[in-house]
Amino acid sequence: SIGFAVALLGAYLIGSIPFGLLLTRWAGLGDIRAIGSGNIGATNVLRTGRKGLAVATLLLDALKGVVAVLLMRWVAPEQDLVAGTAAVLGHTMPVWLGFRGGKGGATALGVCLAAMWPVALACAALWLATAKIVRISSVATLVPIAASPLLALIFSDGEHALMALLVGVLVFWRHEANIRRLMAGTEPRIGQKG
Ligand code: G3P
Repeated sequence: SIGFAVALLGAYLIGSIPFGLLLTRWAGLGDIRAIGSGNIGATNVLRTGRKGLAVATLLLDALKGVVAVLLMRWVAPEQDLVAGTAAVLGHTMPVWLGFRGGKGGATALGVCLAAMWPVALACAALWLATAKIVRISSVATLVPIAASPLLALIFSDGEHALMALLVGVLVFWRHEANIRRLMAGTEPRIGQKG
């Protein structure tokens, strides 16, 4: 239906709002893509030294996922997972930035929260624990992302597990440079400049 098409496009467009880029620009910090890892996400915003901006980026990027799922649930409830996937696609491949966007971790967490909150809680716990133990942001993102299809299968159903798998592939693909650095032993720890 037309409602579904509009909500799907809306989900992609909501996902594609580059909050990290906008907040740092408005704060007079220049182009976030020119510092650290070059990413537009909360981890790289933290490398500017502005903790508040990093937290705001994390929350707003997650909120995009929540809003996309809720928007679709209002229009075509059975398509909410498709909208969540579109939001992560929007974040990672925003039309505004020549399809070169973020890595999707925060937005995926927001989608998860709206679509299967017990899985989101488990992922958030895994994320915090990994960050505390390993102190590498990309690993802290990739561990819960890797676990999410199985967690979805346990706490939700096969459809949610399939979405988690699709989103997971997208997020892993966008972490290609991080994975290379991890294998080379050069990935910076949290708090270090990238
Ligand atoms: O999800 C992003 C985070 O895992 C890594 O960010 O800036 O270290 O590439 P960054």
